[in-house]
Amino acid sequence: MATQRRLKVALVGLGRLGAIRARILAYQQPRIELVAVCDTKPGTDEWARQNLPSSVKHFVDPEDCLRNGGAEAVLISTATATHAPLICLGLDLDLHVMCEKPISVDIETTEQVLAKAASKSHLKFLVPFCRRYDDSYRAAKVMVESGSLGTIHAVETTCLDQQDPFGFFVTFSAQSGGIFVDMGVHDIDIGRYFLNVKEGLANPKKQVNRVIAMGQQAVYNDLAKYGDCDNGWGLIEFANGKVLTTHLGRTLTNGFEGMTRVCGTKGHSIINGNSTINRVEVRDTHGVRTATTPDAFVLYDKSFLNDLAEFANAVIDNKDLTCTPDDAYEAAKIATALQYSFRNKVPVYFDDHGLPIMENAQVNSHHQ
Ligand SMILES: NC(=O)c1ccc[n+]([C@@H]2O[C@H](COP(=O)([O-])OP(=O)(O)OC[C@H]3O[C@@H](n4cnc5c(N)ncnc54)[C@H](O)[C@@H]3O)[C@@H](O)[C@H]2O)c1
Repeated sequence: MATQRRLKVALVGLGRLGAIRARILAYQQPRIELVAVCDTKPGTDEWARQNLPSSVKHFVDPEDCLRNGGAEAVLISTATATHAPLICLGLDLDLHVMCEKPISVDIETTEQVLAKAASKSHLKFLVPFCRRYDDSYRAAKVMVESGSLGTIHAVETTCLDQQDPFGFFVTFSAQSGGIFVDMGVHDIDIGRYFLNVKEGLANPKKQVNRVIAMGQQAVYNDLAKYGDCDNGWGLIEFANGKVLTTHLGRTLTNGFEGMTRVCGTKGHSIINGNSTINRVEVRDTHGVRTATTPDAFVLYDKSFLNDLAEFANAVIDNKDLTCTPDDAYEAAKIATALQYSFRNKVPVYFDDHGLPIMENAQVNSHHQ
């Protein structure tokens, strides 16, 4: 029997998500061979030794890893601020690249990365949004495309993180770009996924009319220092009249919830209306209770396998990816505009080139 070709992958970043990715790459991807991992943090070599096959080499320098790790492709799972230079390095070294969202926290850097990826069209480049790779979202998409919900005119989402007593994301906020850029980019993407936002446009470049965002520091007052909030609301009007609303939060006490309501003229579909960890209910003197997923890694656990499988198939079989760099770009522009709207207390309109009209569109800065 012929041995199946396996894509040799290097993983850069062994943090919260990277450690999950490392195990998936090493043990749960029949078409992938994890050949190298890299993290600058001391102790990650020991973690790799204990948790990964002995054949996986550990590096502390990402360039050394990409040049000498023996990989054909790289998965970048580092802190957001390092994504853009690492993507460009990978592409320059002729590696296929998959990178966690977002590409960058500012539009200009995102554009530079996309131009680099376009100049290397023989290489696959994937920035996966995990909901697109979730089986329930995929089933809802099939239903939407069948027309059984009628015309989809609006999407409502919530993405609510569990309260963290240590407030990790407060200092993380300085690097993450803020709640709309870091978290909201998923909700924007899933709204675009269901709303067919390219349909019926007079000007195909302009997909959005306007956005407005509001927010609060309900629990974590220190977020104000970073121009960030722990509860944020975004309202997006697309150029074809469709509407997306999203509530993003970091203060839920029962766990992590991620819900999407797809509103059609014949019916609505709700995905993860109750983000339960399993199908068990407790009925007692408190009423009816279910346990909530603790975080997005658990709620979307299968997505982190599905996107890697699609990436490997796309490279090995030269197939198209279902989530394109353009999707990442369009979502990033909206996310940046929402963060700006929140920080400056103004609505943001989009111009005929499809860019948000902001005083400083280059940097997603919180300095005013
Ligand atoms: N659902 C999703 O798609 C999803 C979920 C969580 C996180 N993310 C994204 O994944 C990325 C990582 O998130 P995380 O929560 O694992 O962060 P993390 O801070 O826990 O881990 C990042 C790791 O990268 C390492 N690192 C940083 N710079 C490096 C460099 N130049 N070279 C090598 N290693 C480097 C750090 O030492 C750390 O171990 C973020 O961009 C985040 O936005 C996506």
